[in-house]
Amino acid sequence: MSRTLSRRRLLELAGVGGVAAVAAGSGGVLVARGGESSDTGTGGTVPFYGDHQAGILTPQQHHLQFASYDVTAANVAELRDLLGSWTGLADRLTRGADPGSGGDEFAPPDDTGEAGGLDPARLTVTVGFGPGLFDGRFGLAGSRPPELADLPRFEKDELEPAQSGGDICVQACSNDPQVAFHAIRNLTRDGRGGVSLRWLQKGFLSPTDGGAGTPRNLMGFKDGTANLDPAKADRMDRNVWAAPGSGFGWMAGGSYLVARKIRIRIEQWDRTALGEQEKFVGRVKDSGAPLLGTAEHEAVKPSKLDVASHIRLANPRTGADSERERILRRGYNFDEGIDGIGQISAGLFFLGYQQDPRRQFVTIQRRLAANDLLNEYLFHTGSAIFAIPPGVQPGGYIGQTLLA
Ligand code: HEM
Repeated sequence: MSRTLSRRRLLELAGVGGVAAVAAGSGGVLVARGGESSDTGTGGTVPFYGDHQAGILTPQQHHLQFASYDVTAANVAELRDLLGSWTGLADRLTRGADPGSGGDEFAPPDDTGEAGGLDPARLTVTVGFGPGLFDGRFGLAGSRPPELADLPRFEKDELEPAQSGGDICVQACSNDPQVAFHAIRNLTRDGRGGVSLRWLQKGFLSPTDGGAGTPRNLMGFKDGTANLDPAKADRMDRNVWAAPGSGFGWMAGGSYLVARKIRIRIEQWDRTALGEQEKFVGRVKDSGAPLLGTAEHEAVKPSKLDVASHIRLANPRTGADSERERILRRGYNFDEGIDGIGQISAGLFFLGYQQDPRRQFVTIQRRLAANDLLNEYLFHTGSAIFAIPPGVQPGGYIGQTLLA
């Protein structure tokens, strides 16, 4: 019922031309139009529609809400209906169009309301499909790409089923945490009957140097220095977007996402000498430079690093093979109170977009799990893999290339 209501509401909104007045946070007042980006630093809008889904190459917003769902839709028609409804809602949310608490006094409001008057703050909504969607319930078993293989168990994994897996994921990123929360809350509400929540993860990161610098993770190191550059289109074609001609044409323009929830033993790390910390990572803590260097972005010389340092194992720089393994990392820090033994429960929610996780994440993580000097301080508690379908064109819906 609530889904029908909100769909009708969305059509009404589309009828007014998709124009919404949005009050910007730090960036002044904006008027956002569907399909147009109005970008003022941390405020404004990122278009939902496009060849690729937003939220992959989009410069990382400061806040994340990530939801993983089990699909409860009874058949493929219901699944299509759900994704159609989410498409309109995601477009509306990312434009910051606020339907207000309207509706009639005898029904719940169409929108939950907590983003009323807030700038969307570059909200993106990115949807992915987990292996479970291809289990036969929806007649999709033959459409499961081999890249979406279940991840193997890695040494020292301590995975919790309640924080792993899922049939569908939604990554909502915004510079305003309340906007990101609102997006997931309303998509979850709209999806009632078709999906049920399996796990939720929120995250944060803060760019250094007044907004332009590499953010730091909770080990205190700059994280993202040697990341792939999303502006390099040919690199994205080789490492991030699904390979053309893979036989699974519905994924053209899509990508694969690996999510890993990694706890950091913060207290133990904080008792570790600076020299050890830097040796284990392979970089200088303050500047982010490779060890023995001075500038953050100077070339890494593997021979100067411990063979088991994190960056040497993550990227051995042995030529073409190392280059083909590289991933677009988009992870976030998290903290969630204290664990059962009085320690801070915090870490890194690793998100990696890639062309083929078998060649990329799995190869790298096998090396890391076996030898990374950081392992003493890390354990993985959550894991999931998703196929991220291509972007949506106006009039289309999320996953159309798979379900049409
Ligand atoms: C809590 C867990 C982790 C922490 C604290 C961490 C931290 C770091 C740091 C500080 C860097 C150096 C800065 C940079 O170039 O970005 C780095 C690089 C990197 N990390 Fe991690 N990392 C973690 C987990 C992982 C995992 C699970 C992978 C799996 C694929 C991974 C892959 C990489 C890669 C590919 C690089 C770039 C290496 C290079 O090209 O030089 N990291 N990480």
